[in-house]
Amino acid sequence: MFQSLQALPPDPILGLTVAFKADSNPNKIDLGMGVYKDELGNTPIMKAVKQAEKIILQSQDSKTYVGPTGSADYNEAIAKLILGQNLLKGLGKRRVTMQTPGGCGGLRLAAEFISKANSEATVWVSDPTWANHKPLIGSAGLKFKSYPYYDHESHNVKFDNMLETLQQIPQGDLVLLHGCCHNPSGADLSPEQWTAVRDVALEQGFNVFIDLAYQGMGAGLEEDVHGVRLLAESLPELIIVSSCSKNFGLYRERTGAITLICNSDETCATASTLLAGAARANYSMPPDHGAAIVELIMNTPELRSIWDEELREIRDRINKLRSQFVQKLKDAKIARDFSFIENEKGMFSFLGVNAHQIKTLIEKYSIYLVNSSRINVASINDSNIDYLTSSLAEVLAE
Ligand code: LMR
Repeated sequence: MFQSLQALPPDPILGLTVAFKADSNPNKIDLGMGVYKDELGNTPIMKAVKQAEKIILQSQDSKTYVGPTGSADYNEAIAKLILGQNLLKGLGKRRVTMQTPGGCGGLRLAAEFISKANSEATVWVSDPTWANHKPLIGSAGLKFKSYPYYDHESHNVKFDNMLETLQQIPQGDLVLLHGCCHNPSGADLSPEQWTAVRDVALEQGFNVFIDLAYQGMGAGLEEDVHGVRLLAESLPELIIVSSCSKNFGLYRERTGAITLICNSDETCATASTLLAGAARANYSMPPDHGAAIVELIMNTPELRSIWDEELREIRDRINKLRSQFVQKLKDAKIARDFSFIENEKGMFSFLGVNAHQIKTLIEKYSIYLVNSSRINVASINDSNIDYLTSSLAEVLAE
């Protein structure tokens, strides 16, 4: 039976890491996968995380099951981080949050939940969107369409076009938005644009589904959820999937959550049973370690302030790198304006180079980037910025 199988092509993001590791060029640069790297090119464990791990190691006295919905205290801590205390109070039992195996596990669960609620629903994704959105959500059998988002010419959000499309989306469909730090473009909606999206969602009656993978990596923990909170306080229903991979650096611990806002307490109680049932049927229960760390950090003031400070340093470094890179590109006298990179948020930006140039960057210079020209800005450092800039100048001059 297995002989009939056809091999899949390598994953567009994960496949790059494999190729990068196999490359023996000492100057190689990995601008591919979205993991934060420090000045030395390492992805360190955050100090707050290390301290929490030590406490857990000492105090944990059982490895018994926690349950399909994960830790109740973690769920509350995540809900508070995303929505804030006041909004949480106001929503009361119209809101439920459930621990998931990373943001991906949350997206997959959300897709299954949506298909239970309306198997005919179409999920509208931004053009472009994260390469794994379609496989993850599509695996639950949902249909896709896309709405215009990023203008590769002006390097801005094509907001008028986006709005025109949203104005055609019917009730029963869902619009997937990136909460902040849009992946892959780095171009986020402004507060006014979030308000306009909220208004059209209310008018049209479609549902909104937010992927929040980078809270705290853009402008700040509160600033990055401006749009999420605006929608949470005004829409009758909302799905938010969040991740602790980047802002807690817990990548391999698979720590995420799904939050639902429902139009009544009763619907929320029903919806919770479906989420728990989907978890049980898929993986039974989420892994505990990452969530236990986050729960302890969020509920211990000293650890919380260490984490806040570390996250601020990460965010500041990424934003500084954006400015430095733009300056280096200017200094290299490349006849192209890259200043947009400085205004974008989070780890990613498009370099705006074509497929042939990407191939040359990878094959001739060992500079690895995603085939859309997305780069991870956090991979730039003092030791590689000159090689990166000069290689790019040469490739663009060819
Ligand atoms: C990325 O976009 O590079 C990250 O979210 C890692 C991944 O799983 O693709």
